[in-house]
Amino acid sequence: MRILVAGGAGYIGSHVVKALCNRGDSVVVADNLVTGHRQAVDRRAKFYQGDIRDHGFLSALFQAEPVDGVIHFAAYSLVGESVTAPLKYYENNVGGTRVLLEEMIRAGVKKIVFSSSAAVYGQPEQVPIEETAPTCPTNPYGETKRVMEQMFRWAEQAYGVGFVSLRYFNACGAEEGGAIGEDHRPESHLIPLVLQVPLGKRAKVSIFGTDYPTKDGTCVRDYIHVTDLAQAHLLAMDYLAQGGKSDIFNLGNGVGFSVREVIETARRVTGHPIDEEESGRRAGDPAVLVASSQKARAVLGWTSCHTALDDIIASAWAWHQAHPNGFEEEGRS
Ligand code: NAD
Ligand code: UFG
Repeated sequence: MRILVAGGAGYIGSHVVKALCNRGDSVVVADNLVTGHRQAVDRRAKFYQGDIRDHGFLSALFQAEPVDGVIHFAAYSLVGESVTAPLKYYENNVGGTRVLLEEMIRAGVKKIVFSSSAAVYGQPEQVPIEETAPTCPTNPYGETKRVMEQMFRWAEQAYGVGFVSLRYFNACGAEEGGAIGEDHRPESHLIPLVLQVPLGKRAKVSIFGTDYPTKDGTCVRDYIHVTDLAQAHLLAMDYLAQGGKSDIFNLGNGVGFSVREVIETARRVTGHPIDEEESGRRAGDPAVLVASSQKARAVLGWTSCHTALDDIIASAWAWHQAHPNGFEEEGRS
């Protein structure tokens, strides 16, 4: 297939680009590099630097590169920043998606797979969370993802664009070849922050809240390996290509680990003591987020290969050890 990957220079997008190239798809990447890295994009893919909010950029791109479908990652995704700058999030996440949809419709592209998030659920009433659970986001970032899902529903009805929304839980790890991995700036995710301690980049890791109603008082999350997420995108695109109906799928391992368990596992994997400090809760954090991914398994035929937290953290550790300064320090263009 010929696929346009919007946001394909980012963490998850670059892993999907590589997986698509590996199976022989023809891949075009559109990214403005606001948080992504040119070096993260597989050399087999064609790269266009530009902004999905730019009608002219997208319309020229669709003309130059006829594609069968779009996989869409391009968004801002810092939960805390979304609370202080909500309009920035509506403008890029919702506004960018609207322009992308308009240009897809104009170009006759009728299939899209896109990144949603467990953040659409807010504080869940029940775990594991099924796709039918109420969506009550506790921050503007999650709200923009919910609005995007609704926009796709209405656009499908009006214009016949089929969509799959993938609600990821906590993406982590790095591909086995060691060429690409997580390099967010600023970094806000737990696992890379924990690993900055053995890398000598920070003295200790903060635990945000120790009074949650969980097994050890710290927040529980469902950590899902980025290459398992990547495979789900390929399956979702195949599903649409085979005439599958538009739908929403959770992607997680179905097992929750607390912040303390993540730090303890990282100590085991790295052989480093990793100092910690307890600090207050981070605003908007639900106590427990664990996915039921039964639907993705049943409908898409998805399975997760990396279920052991040790292995997941080991793959992240291998990437960070090989690239302590991320992508920029490698002397590649
Ligand atoms: P990322 O920031 O690494 O990737 C996003 C990419 O989109 C970057 O390369 C960025 O430069 C690009 N981009 C942003 N706005 C753009 C625009 N207007 N035009 C063109 N390119 C633009 O983020 P990520 O961690 O890879 O996440 C990818 C997607 O998955 C995001 O939509 C995010 O909300 C969602 N998500 C991530 C997680 C996670 O744990 N990382 C969890 C749930 C959902
Ligand atoms: N945490 C700490 N210390 C840190 C960083 C994080 O204790 O230094 C805690 C957080 O409070 C949270 C857990 O570790 O309880 C995981 O935090 P992350 O920031 O790694 O991930 P989140 O669960 O907040 O968010 C992630 C993605 C979002 C997505 C969300 C739900 O970053 O994009 O999962 O899917 F929306």
